[in-house]
Amino acid sequence: MLSRYKEWRGAKASVAIRARVKASLMEKVPLFAELSQKDLNRIARLVKEVELPAGSPLATAGDAGSELLVIVNGEAVVKTKPGRTAVLKAGDFFGEMSLIDGHPRSATVEATTPIRLLVLERRDFWHLLEQTTSIVRTVMSTLCQRLREVEGSVLEVGGKHARA
Ligand code: CMP
Repeated sequence: MLSRYKEWRGAKASVAIRARVKASLMEKVPLFAELSQKDLNRIARLVKEVELPAGSPLATAGDAGSELLVIVNGEAVVKTKPGRTAVLKAGDFFGEMSLIDGHPRSATVEATTPIRLLVLERRDFWHLLEQTTSIVRTVMSTLCQRLREVEGSVLEVGGKHARA
């Protein structure tokens, strides 16, 4: 795991208590909404929980990326190369693109408030996708939504091709 995502160890909580806390945080995140309690508990052991202050860089365009990050509390801004921005809030995730295609981070992401994240490493992300159809569906649907937003803004700038 990259050193920028320093794990939060909450007052020396035991591994079991931390896993339970992480499972209860995961329950509130749409990405994990359809997981059974058993799967939540299993995956909770794989994810790291981190807390970072406002202004923290969470991903840098052009850098290698090896984690998926899910926002539990707080907000972040995505800054893409063509100068677009997108706001990410509690329940949103980012970092999936580099995990899927192996290319460098496509955008820079920064915390705009103090932020609490769940961090899932590449190997565990793929494991999860292979085992859980609901997560595949959510990741695909989010990718489509992000593409539509980018395409929508390109078309609007293009004028005559703009959507009604
Ligand atoms: P990745 O390329 O791994 O790292 C940067 C992340 O920013 C990217 O994955 C997506 O999760 C996110 N991202 C990139 N472009 C957009 C966009 N247009 N809207 C929202 N999020 C984006």
